[in-house]
Amino acid sequence: MNEIVELKKLAPQINLLKLNVPLITQRAKAGQFVVLRINQEGERIPMSITDLDPQTGILTIIFQEVGKTTAHLATLKQGDVLADVVGPLGVPTHMENFGTCVCVGGGIGIAPIHFVAKNLKQKGNKVISIIGARSKNLLILEEEMGKISDQLLISTDDGSYGHHGFVTDVLTQLLSQKVEVDYIMAIGPVIMMKAVCGVTAPHGIKTLVSLNPIMVDATGMCGACRVTVGGKTKFACVDGPDFDGHQVDFDELLKRQAMYLKQERIAMERFKQRLGDKTKEGVAK
Ligand SMILES: Cc1cc2nc3c(=O)[nH]c(=O)nc-3n(C[C@H](O)[C@H](O)[C@H](O)COP(=O)(O)OP(=O)(O)OC[C@H]3O[C@@H](n4cnc5c(N)ncnc54)[C@H](O)[C@@H]3O)c2cc1C
Ligand code: FES
Repeated sequence: MNEIVELKKLAPQINLLKLNVPLITQRAKAGQFVVLRINQEGERIPMSITDLDPQTGILTIIFQEVGKTTAHLATLKQGDVLADVVGPLGVPTHMENFGTCVCVGGGIGIAPIHFVAKNLKQKGNKVISIIGARSKNLLILEEEMGKISDQLLISTDDGSYGHHGFVTDVLTQLLSQKVEVDYIMAIGPVIMMKAVCGVTAPHGIKTLVSLNPIMVDATGMCGACRVTVGGKTKFACVDGPDFDGHQVDFDELLKRQAMYLKQERIAMERFKQRLGDKTKEGVAK
């Protein structure tokens, strides 16, 4: 249990991690997440589920190296065992046959939107996916998204692939073509989810977002993941992570996500120092 069966790089700083966690794969659903801890001293980090196979007990996660713990995770190898993998956590994304659904995934957000889009397709929806990244080399899961979507549209910020610009430009174009859209799900950086909601609000299309505030216990006890939705306080770990995007206070979320930047920078510097020392001693490569 909790064993790494595969860990490989998909793109610079982006890794695919397959874990043997049969108890979680039997119960987990699209939209849920797990909390990992590498070792007894490690911090708990939430990670969305990209895919799972209840037959083999393998859960797939895709993670980006953004700080100390994700950088440490990327140094592990097949056969290593994580101290804890807790889940499934959060409320599953509500699934039904809505009609035509647009799934918007930006950057690492393409990983969780993949599982949502796959399930929406299985429910009989027409799925139009819009995925985007800063540059072509950072675009993940293009082939997988193509397989589960009726239409796949791509954008890159630098124009190296697909539409030159943001996923919101592509969404704006799509909606201006009078395509009947019944439901939109957007997952990605907070600023992207805010922009998507800005595009869809005038059209009155229901838009769900999956929020990623800082989480600590992920069981509704600590309050770290507090978000304001429709003027009410919600805890993303137990009330979400999916919320009605038109009701979310994104500016507050952006501020709260940056609360520990100084401490995160120090932790990363110490980790790099330790890694450098070990490499010099020949203990780690
Ligand atoms: C429900 C949920 C699902 C997520 N799914 C994914 C995923 O599928 N792939 C992925 O790459 N990332 C995902 N994240 C974000 C991921 O948890 C953070 O990138 C990770 O915790 C960063 O840890 P770090 O030590 O490497 O970086 P740090 O240097 O500690 O932090 C870098 C940034 O990551 C965020 N962060 C830090 N600690 C946490 C925390 N405990 N909880 C949430 N965010 C944090 C903050 O915005 C911070 O500024 C998800 C977050 C949530 C809440
Ligand atoms: S992470 Fe503690 S209440 Fe949600």
